[in-house]
Amino acid sequence: MFDYKTLIYNSAKDVLDGLEIGDVTASDAFCDYCIPCFKFAKVLRKAPAMIAADAAAKIKIDGIKAEALNGYLNFTIERDAFVRRAFEDSGEYKPLSGKTVCIDYSSVNIAKPFHIGHLMTTVIGGSLCKIFKYLGAEVVGINHLGDWGTQFGGLISAFRNWGDEDRLNARGLDELLELYVRYHSEAEKDEKVAAEAREWSKKIESGDPYAVGLFERFKAITLEQAKKVYKRLNIEFDSYLGESFYVDKVPAVEKKLEQKGLLKISDGAEIVELSDDMPPALIRRSDGASLYIARDLAAAYYRHENYNFDKCLYVVASHQALHFKQLFKVLELLGEKWAGDMIHVSFGMVSVEGMALSTRKGNVLYLSDVLDSAVEKAAAIIAERNPDLNDKSRVAESVGVGAVVFGALYDGRQKDKNFSLEAALNFDGETGPYVQYTHARCRSVLSKAGYSKSQKVDYSLLTDDEAYDVVKLLADFDENILSAAVKYEPSVVSRRLVKICQAFNRFYNADRIMCGGETEKARLELTLRVADALKCGLMLVLLDAPEKM
Ligand code: ARG
Repeated sequence: MFDYKTLIYNSAKDVLDGLEIGDVTASDAFCDYCIPCFKFAKVLRKAPAMIAADAAAKIKIDGIKAEALNGYLNFTIERDAFVRRAFEDSGEYKPLSGKTVCIDYSSVNIAKPFHIGHLMTTVIGGSLCKIFKYLGAEVVGINHLGDWGTQFGGLISAFRNWGDEDRLNARGLDELLELYVRYHSEAEKDEKVAAEAREWSKKIESGDPYAVGLFERFKAITLEQAKKVYKRLNIEFDSYLGESFYVDKVPAVEKKLEQKGLLKISDGAEIVELSDDMPPALIRRSDGASLYIARDLAAAYYRHENYNFDKCLYVVASHQALHFKQLFKVLELLGEKWAGDMIHVSFGMVSVEGMALSTRKGNVLYLSDVLDSAVEKAAAIIAERNPDLNDKSRVAESVGVGAVVFGALYDGRQKDKNFSLEAALNFDGETGPYVQYTHARCRSVLSKAGYSKSQKVDYSLLTDDEAYDVVKLLADFDENILSAAVKYEPSVVSRRLVKICQAFNRFYNADRIMCGGETEKARLELTLRVADALKCGLMLVLLDAPEKM
């Protein structure tokens, strides 16, 4: 958007030459911007009111009225000039071009179902990918798969003992989950089961073809299910390199640590001691197995070498805060300057209508079930509101899934959420369906009017309070998107979308759009710009924008 503040500052500086202007204050009841002139009185040996009056007479800025009032220099933006600037400045906004951002998100664990606990990382990360891309950055979306650990040995031995080819083919992940649960309960009772699992673990590690082949199948089954969910959420990854990929890259990290004298042995385990307020980082267990943080260190180096990122984000729940603090600290101790570019984008807990989201003992709430149930409810609402709609089931999918995603992205990410499907699906609330519906309403007005291409209009016809409020919200939407990126906070965008809809609906109710003549044309142009902004914003928070609803 037009930088009024700088413009005002510079022209005031010209007129009051040599003086330190200080801050240009924004918006009070009397003006849009203002400069108090009291502080100039001593130097200029003139009364503040006189200084202000003299300056006001000299300052000429296109589209801004300068006036003196009681020692203040007040600046009012002329509305039609503002609308013209907002509408004519449709240049590409790519403030982050040339930057590369790695975003580690969703990062599912093999053989575990895609449960509701993955919702936040998946949608926050997915939305940040779109937001950074929109701003011109190069984005690498990474699904750092949890595909390493002794549990997979357990899974293989469970499959051999109690599993069955046909059942695995038919039931996929459900079968794996059951085997997994059974393995855990039997291993507790019987040391032989645990020992056998360790054997299989070793076989995976040593590359035994049978063990690796079976594990690859488990991985494929897990990913197949996850990818179905990603498709519904409009998400794609650039990399699925998981923890197992980094296992053979850990020794290089250990070497670096050793060279810096950071690697200590404690009870046979390798550790790095950190500052007083943090427990040491465990790199390798005494039995020789590498640990989670070791693989994350290797991954950090790999990403730095391969992508040369400006930022590397980890969208992971706040309960892993210590892990990331330790990870970044170790990199800092290693003297890596880019350690400061690693960011833990954390978030709070989610529950659905008070239900617990336990992942233990197979009692889980699948994300796909939550989405299905939202879609079913959306279908019922749509059937009632618009029974003649074509393509009802596709729209219901967009609205149902959109309601869940938008609901997850509406509050600041740190907040714990208790999710209510009813509330998320309220077409009149601060919801995804409300934004989608407002977008569809705009499109329907436009299609009835046959107005589909942006045109030059008489901007002075969009200066009434209702239209002008909408214009203002559109004018700095791009800066708003940038601030979402700077804060790693998609809710900045989703909140702005709701504001635009509320302002548009006030305009829609106050100003008849189809009123004929030039005013109609100007209002249609505003409607078109709202529709395009909503569609773009919906895309940034992963939602579809159906044309009709
Ligand atoms: N798979 C892990 C989990 O579900 C999250 C991985 C996050 N990413 C990372 N680089 N550590 O808890």
